[in-house]
Amino acid sequence: MSAAPAAQADGAPLVLPKRAPRVDIDLERLALAGYLTPLAPRSLVADQFRVVKRPLIGNAVGPNAAEVARGNLIMVTSARPGEGKTFTAINLAISLAAELDTTVLLVDADVTRPSVMDVLGLPRSAGLMDLLQDDAVRLEDTLLRTNIDKLTVLPSGTAHARATEMLASEAMARLLQELSSRYANRLIVFDSPPLLLATESRVLATHMGQVVVVVQAEQTLQADVRAALATIDNCPLRLMLLNQARKAAVTGYDYGPAAV
Ligand SMILES: Nc1ncnc2c1ncn2[C@@H]1O[C@H](COP(=O)(O)OP(=O)(O)OP(=O)(O)O)[C@@H](O)[C@H]1O
Ligand SMILES: [Mg+2]
Repeated sequence: MSAAPAAQADGAPLVLPKRAPRVDIDLERLALAGYLTPLAPRSLVADQFRVVKRPLIGNAVGPNAAEVARGNLIMVTSARPGEGKTFTAINLAISLAAELDTTVLLVDADVTRPSVMDVLGLPRSAGLMDLLQDDAVRLEDTLLRTNIDKLTVLPSGTAHARATEMLASEAMARLLQELSSRYANRLIVFDSPPLLLATESRVLATHMGQVVVVVQAEQTLQADVRAALATIDNCPLRLMLLNQARKAAVTGYDYGPAAV
């Protein structure tokens, strides 16, 4: 265990801040990339995520919350890579943060292919991996407040050879317990590895209250969707989200029943 600054895979030191600093997301760049931002609250993507987030909020803090254990922990995953997990997780977090009384923490738990910081235009810094590896690193050392009101980010942190395995570790289970209880009123959205590539992603899912499985319309094989859903059979709330449904006239997003 060391209190020295963590090092990235390329050797560049990571700075561990004393308290949650504020970072500025480049909102114009994000909007240009097709993401939802507070700059364009009435865009099509904003409208789509208004629909997507409603049942999630209901299960996390709404009338159904009492029946959903850890409903505030929302994992975004998919069967295979490249189906739109990061796009969905970021938009969902921004959309949830726009709710009047919802504080949101976006966690980059896709630890072998982290991209949340790059998409948001933020420098990589200490995060999830550092928390799991080093007891001296505290949660508040890694959280970054942002220029989007009520949105905080937990980066994936220092690259680690056994990063995926660590998602299924006892330390991760303890961290999720801490997050769900200490931040019970906060919605926590996890960008995660695909279910069919990483068994650890399935273990991660067992700790979540809600799991959103992103399915790329006209791309993901039905057999893959079925296999992916089967891997998280024990999770009480599985929602399937159809991404990039070109034929849908009004919305590119749709929830389907979590069984195919
Ligand atoms: N609904 C959408 N509208 C526009 N662009 C999208 C949409 N969904 C995904 N994309 C774009 O498609 C690409 C792949 O999406 P994304 O990175 O979110 O997938 P991913 O599942 O996180 O991939 P990986 O498994 O590599 O992490 C990105 O460039 C993203 O911006
Ligand atoms: Mg991704």
